[in-house]
Amino acid sequence: MAPPQIAILGAGIFVKTEYIPRLSEIPDLFVLKAIWSRTEESARGAVDIAKKFFPRVECKWGDAGLNEIIQDASIVAVLVVLAAQFQVDLSLKLLRSGKHVLQEKPAASSINEVKTALSSYNSLSTSLPRQPIWAIAENYRFEPAILEGKKLMPDIGDLVNFQILVEAPMNSSNPYFSSSWRHNFTGGYILDMGVHFVAVLRMLAGCEVTSVSAMTSHVDTTLPPPDSMSSIIQLENGRCGVLVASLPGKTLKIFHRFVGVKGTLQIDVENREGKFGYSVSLFTADGQTKNSYYPFRGVTEELKTFFNVVSLATEKKDLTFRAEPRLSVIEGARDVAVIEAILESGNKQGALVQVNKF
Ligand SMILES: *[C@@H]1O[C@H](CO)[C@@H](O)[C@H](O)[C@H]1NC(C)=O
Ligand SMILES: *[C@@H]1O[C@H](CO)[C@@H](O)[C@H](O)[C@H]1NC(C)=O
Repeated sequence: MAPPQIAILGAGIFVKTEYIPRLSEIPDLFVLKAIWSRTEESARGAVDIAKKFFPRVECKWGDAGLNEIIQDASIVAVLVVLAAQFQVDLSLKLLRSGKHVLQEKPAASSINEVKTALSSYNSLSTSLPRQPIWAIAENYRFEPAILEGKKLMPDIGDLVNFQILVEAPMNSSNPYFSSSWRHNFTGGYILDMGVHFVAVLRMLAGCEVTSVSAMTSHVDTTLPPPDSMSSIIQLENGRCGVLVASLPGKTLKIFHRFVGVKGTLQIDVENREGKFGYSVSLFTADGQTKNSYYPFRGVTEELKTFFNVVSLATEKKDLTFRAEPRLSVIEGARDVAVIEAILESGNKQGALVQVNKF
């Protein structure tokens, strides 16, 4: 069977520095037909980079370019990597035209938005011969280190407590600082980045978050508010822990520690030989430490999974096909729900807020 033909909507920093290089590692799984952006200049910037790997990729821009992609029946799947304010609307537009969509996280800019979008998406099963796949790209769910951590969780026994501490220096030297949409997005970087850490927490704990109590602050006024948060998180199983994130600062540190009755699991982001990855350590009662290291690979793995799911859906012509659970909108929405509760609690000086259930 011929691999699916795809298009990318978006030509920003993440497309240029992540999507295109990662797609170039798996060129047999798809055919990249077009890259689209709102403006011609921006679309050309990404197309020039992509041409090195995909010489036949076409450049599309503006409303006309978008319509061409929508009307091109040979394009069966689209990767949506746009400003978070616009992603859901565009994803729905593509889904209505019958195309499968992999949309970047966050799943939506709010729970209200995702609820409305899900009901339009679900109604497509009545208007289209088959419901296309709407998948959310949360690369942390595909990181080999996080999957290894999940495998090791039974070794720590009953979970007692967890700490997830994040320092991510976001200043004008960071390429993501210059993306204007993040500065005009309710929840700012705390929502945009925070969903990753919630995804890891939910995956490792194997349990949903029920309520949060958080304090937020705004220290660096060149960043959108809030730029820092300290949250106490309560899980469905009654256990609790903390999730802390600060954007102003000088060091990068992403630290996860899960304390259990039989041992402790720690996962840290580390730079080895100029490349980022995770160090995974298991500490047990007898003083033994098990340590392993995994370079970042989540984006490649998630793209591979999406293309496999699309190929399967095409082959089987299955009318009720559902995306792989790790790609599902529901999972992405649950991450957003936790951050939304954190932001609400922060606005109410730490009041306990129940997390919206999906
Ligand atoms: C910021 O977002 C609002 C609402 O989403 C929009 O109306 C406004 O034009 C945006 N401003 C900038 C500078 O992008
Ligand atoms: C931003 O933070 C990085 C990491 O600490 C640092 O190397 C760089 O000098 C900072 N840039 C500015 C403009 O402060």
